[in-house]
Amino acid sequence: MMIEEAISFITQFYEETNQSSTKRNERLKAIKQEIIEKGYYRHTKEELTFGARLAWRNSNRCIGRLFWESLKVQDARDIQNEAEFLNAITSHVENATNGGRIIPYITIFAPSFEAPPKIYNNQLIRYAGYEKIGDPSEKSVTHLAEHLGWRGDHTNFDVLPLIYQFPNHPIRYYEYPKSLILEVPIRHSEFPKIEQLNLKWYAVPIISNMDLKIGGITYPTAPFNGWYMVNEIAVRNYLDSFRYNLMEPLAQAMNFSNLKNSSFNKDRVLVEINDAVYQSFKNTGVSMVDHLTAAKQFEKFEATEHAHHRKVTGKWSWLAPPLSPTLTANYHHGYDNTMHETNFYYKKNESSGCPFH
Ligand code: ARG
Repeated sequence: MMIEEAISFITQFYEETNQSSTKRNERLKAIKQEIIEKGYYRHTKEELTFGARLAWRNSNRCIGRLFWESLKVQDARDIQNEAEFLNAITSHVENATNGGRIIPYITIFAPSFEAPPKIYNNQLIRYAGYEKIGDPSEKSVTHLAEHLGWRGDHTNFDVLPLIYQFPNHPIRYYEYPKSLILEVPIRHSEFPKIEQLNLKWYAVPIISNMDLKIGGITYPTAPFNGWYMVNEIAVRNYLDSFRYNLMEPLAQAMNFSNLKNSSFNKDRVLVEINDAVYQSFKNTGVSMVDHLTAAKQFEKFEATEHAHHRKVTGKWSWLAPPLSPTLTANYHHGYDNTMHETNFYYKKNESSGCPFH
């Protein structure tokens, strides 16, 4: 029920921000009235900002939550037309990239009851996936882009266009200016042949396929980002067999000719490509965290939360990093995966986001 979710969120907001209960009761009364009259209510800017940060703090899969209070919230609820929309998106990319010193950032468009523009991309910046090259996880978005008339260069790393739709308008795409997208070429100081593989990755992961829910109100278009943890790119995106699947070319570039399981060379490839991605980001001046530091930061997050008498919920399989998990404290205890309502949610039944597949 919206009313119950609203009451619980507003109460938490007033409590955590140490505001008077008189003010809180007035606000609750106004919200109840608004819901009775219209069927929904409108968050104040302060509620919206707190709600978005709280949604991050409640994200059970995220190891980077220590920084939840630093989230920069861009209120884009009143955006009316395509020019303003594209401007909000490009400002997000530019401000969040911040020349490499990445800023955790969210842009929140209108709530569901006001029919916001829809984004079809999984992330604002993502590489196209074709039959044989590119990122296989983006095949359906790539099909959609091509269906709309977009043509990529058919490299391994073609930045997909933004695909969006205003209510009662056709789906359209928009190609970002090249200068907007910061990318990092991957090198390793001790394995010069890695450079010849021409690997790269974009600087800022901006998730654009999740609903933000605050106090019973759903914001379906609310792209958000932090900075990368190195393993996301080096372990998962590059080495998952259903992603770039780079074990063999990387092993060759590192002169590990024997890839037998018991040679431990697959493991060596993993370590060295993490080193390469991390060095490359740092040398390019782009924010990134290694998994051991991220896990330490998460411990600190847990301590601060406990100091505030709040219980940390989490999803163990996501909080344990995919490289050397046992070297982190997270690995050695369980987590309560209860999901608090103010949160980010995967969209239901539209995992690809693509209307044609
Ligand atoms: N794992 C995703 C990717 O590799 C990004 C998810 C969000 N990550 C983050 N550090 N905020 O693109």
